[in-house]
Amino acid sequence: MTGKTSTVSVDDKQVEMAVKPGSIGPSVIDISKLYAQTGMFTYDPGFTSTASCESKITYIDGDQGVLLYRGYPIEQLAEHGDFLETCYLLLYGELPTPTQKADFDYRVTRHTMVHEQMTRFFQGFRRDAHPMAVMVGSVGALSAFYHDSTDISDPHQRMVASMRMIAKMPTLAAMAYKYTIGQPFMYPKNDLDYTSNFLRMCFGVPCEEYKVNPILSRALDRIFILHADHEQNASTSTVRLAGSSGANPFACIAAGIACLWGPAHGGANEAALQMLQEIGTPDRIPMYIAKAKDKNDPFRLMGFGHRVYKNYDPRAKIMQKTTHEVLSELGIKDDPLLDVAVELEQIALKDEYFVEKKLYPNIDFYSGITLKAMGFPTSMFTVLFALARTVGWIAQWSEMIEDPSQKIGRPRQLYVGEPQRDYVPIAQR
Ligand code: SDX
Repeated sequence: MTGKTSTVSVDDKQVEMAVKPGSIGPSVIDISKLYAQTGMFTYDPGFTSTASCESKITYIDGDQGVLLYRGYPIEQLAEHGDFLETCYLLLYGELPTPTQKADFDYRVTRHTMVHEQMTRFFQGFRRDAHPMAVMVGSVGALSAFYHDSTDISDPHQRMVASMRMIAKMPTLAAMAYKYTIGQPFMYPKNDLDYTSNFLRMCFGVPCEEYKVNPILSRALDRIFILHADHEQNASTSTVRLAGSSGANPFACIAAGIACLWGPAHGGANEAALQMLQEIGTPDRIPMYIAKAKDKNDPFRLMGFGHRVYKNYDPRAKIMQKTTHEVLSELGIKDDPLLDVAVELEQIALKDEYFVEKKLYPNIDFYSGITLKAMGFPTSMFTVLFALARTVGWIAQWSEMIEDPSQKIGRPRQLYVGEPQRDYVPIAQR
């Protein structure tokens, strides 16, 4: 075996495995032959030490608080680019030229409408349905409408499905919001940019012209950039696993939305704001810090901690800056929730429990305050996360499909159940 190797001793056996270096970041030990050579599996619940794939899309250095999309630092993309430029970068691997950008924007814009029958599909939901439940259902239902882009072996159909997903998520998200508040759906307008179009579909009404606030639109566009991709997180891994069976892209994205909904993942932005509201005032913070540290209390500080970041989440820093920008544009001088959040962060970052466990604010800690100030209900926060993350899911799904070594994902287990035993007729039990 050429190159660096690692040897595992199993009983009296020495098993040699290849070490594969990344372009940056940790190398991997290729254990794919371990079971065939030793009859043993590796065991890694939660995949804390397991790389599931090779990828060129996003790189995270959790210790340094670094996040790169195709090698470009998130801080620079958030500062200089727009969300559709980031979408192009994640999908194709390079920043677009002006012509490529104009063409991409044009193509996305002209896929923003959904099949008119979808408006009837929505009528089946209760008005008080959680918007994430509506998104799981309606995105999955897209496979019932777009039969001409579900053949994943056809690169053209994959590209069309990708454009449709990126383009239609804002329309479906806005419809999910409008449906829950009993207002009519707003059609997209092709003379608006991606995020302005979304704001108008959410907050505009047919009775009057909607004036987009460019500061808020730019802030939300930046928030979408921050949420666009994040390596092999739980929902992206769900999309990859669903896609590995050959399921159509709409069904795979619906699976990703379902996974993102959990409070340990994308649902944390909704949970974090609810936590800040429950704390209410800075004087109640010590009680909640104590709850978070109490092993017998399931309470966790929502918006704190991360599987990979053991330093400050670089997105949280940009998020915090955006929060202040939005509150100032809206003339919100003192937001009690922001006061609690800032105070909570200060106290937690000095507390030895959080310092020792390297628990820092993550992207979900400040996003809720910003989105609430913009007028979104708490129940829409994870929908916005899903809207932005769709391009990451699609890029990762495409990379998986195009990977020649790709095969259906099928983990094994450590079986700790009953050994084989014979059936006992009920009369003898
Ligand atoms: C996202 O993976 C991604 O990239 C996700 C994401 C993305 O962009 O896709 O970044 C988006 O999901 C961000 C994370 C949002 N979730 C939350 O904010 C929920 C609160 N955070 C935690 O539940 C937790 O920190 C996780 C789920 C984010 C990470 O959990 P891990 O890596 O499995 O860590 P762990 O649960 O093993 O915790 C390690 C220790 C434990 O204590 P011990 O058992 O070692 O004594 O830290 C403690 C935990 O009890 N801990 C917390 C805590 N998070 C971890 N204690 C209090 N409050 C917290 N928030």
